[in-house]
Parts: sequence; C-alpha cells; structure tokens
Amino acid sequence: MSGGVFPRYCRALIFDLDGVLTDTAELHYRAWKRLADEIGVPFDERVNLRLKGVDRAASLDIILERATRSYSAEEKHALTDRKNGYYKSAIATFGKENLFPGVTELLREAHAKGLRTALASASRNAPALLDRLGIAEVFDAIADPAQARPKPSPDLFLAAASALGIAPQDCIGIEDAAAGIAAIKAAGMAAIGIGDPADLAQADAVLPRIGDLRLEEFILQEH
Ligand code: BG6
Ligand code: MG
Repeated sequence: MSGGVFPRYCRALIFDLDGVLTDTAELHYRAWKRLADEIGVPFDERVNLRLKGVDRAASLDIILERATRSYSAEEKHALTDRKNGYYKSAIATFGKENLFPGVTELLREAHAKGLRTALASASRNAPALLDRLGIAEVFDAIADPAQARPKPSPDLFLAAASALGIAPQDCIGIEDAAAGIAAIKAAGMAAIGIGDPADLAQADAVLPRIGDLRLEEFILQEH
C-alpha cells in the first residue's frame, strides 16, 4: 500500500464493474480483437490498456487510429454494434460463479460496517450483467453512463456519490483502468487500483485482485 492516504475515514465504496467485480475486461478485449481482425486493423493487449474503462465509441476511435482508411459515422455505429453483439454473446451464460472470488463477501462486509455501495461503470451492459451476476439489488446506487461524460471525466463517480448523498472526499473508488483511476482522482476521492501498479500509477494503493481487499486496512471506522 502506498503511504499516507489509507487507512482513512470513509462512508461509501464506489465500484467499477468490468475487471473489478468480474472478468469481463478480458471479454471486452476479445470482442474488440475479433472486430479489429475482421476489418484488418492491428490491435493488441498494449493498445487495449488504453481502452479499459473507456466507453464504446471512444474505444473504437482508439482502435481506428491504426486503420488505413477513415470510417463514416454510420460505419462506426455498425462496428460498435457488431462488437457489442460479440460481447453480449460472451456474457450470455454468465452467472454468480463469474464474480471474482471474494466479491460477495466484500460487499456483505461493507454493508455490515455501515458503508454504502454504488456502481460507476461506463458500460451500457452493466444493469443486465449485474442481474446475471445476482448482485443487482446489492448496490445503493448505480450511475447512468448515458448521463455522464466518459472516464477519465469524474462524472460517473460524482453522480454515484451524489445519488448516495455522500461527499466525494468520504468515498473510495475502486478501478482496474487507468482512465477510471484518473476519474476517481478528478472526483476528489481516494482510489484503489486493481491490477498492475505499473499501469495504475495514479492510484493511492494497488492490489493484484479484488479478493485481496481487506477493508480494515483501508478504512477507519467512526466511533
Ligand atoms: C467499461 C469497459 O467498463 O465499459 C470498457 O472497461 C467498455 O472496455 C465500456 O468499452 C463500455 O461498455 P459497453 O458494454 O457499454 O460497450
Ligand atoms: Mg474496468
């Protein structure tokens, strides 16, 4: 843990979804990879790091930076639809078993400690995915990506905090994407990164897996 910021007073945890609660980050990547291969545009894990947390349209624009021709707005729309079709078939069979280990326990423990929980995902598929994962009812608030500028804008995290009625400085955001960590910091919250510290340099602390998060190491309870 990087020093200073944690442990801290906190009233709410605001979670990203893809790559934090479940392994869909890999499925988004595979769906984009299939599309990129089909249209003959080079795309790999390195470029994919820039897509994490970024919304659908902006993700396609990043992939098309390497295209040898330009694409009309209509063509781009058809391409994002195609990618979303691949992604939706990939999550069609998802269930509770696709939550990362420790997520159910973490959410339960957060509520037992009196913390509120919210979701700040850029994904339009988030509500359906939460249903499949069996945790749709667990969150006190879910920020709507249709009403927010994409990460790294702080909008989704600020909307989640505001829906909870909790000041941003009393929230901790949890993210696997550099764009998401930037969004949390821009919102004035403390940030826990999930993944490789080299990719998440702006985070206040980084853990390899969500299952490694021990709330008592991060949160001071008010007495
Ligand atoms: C983010 C993912 O959570 O949601 C991105 O990290 C994805 O990879 C974005 O592009 C938008 O998702 P969707 O489901 O609306 O295409
Ligand atoms: Mg993510």
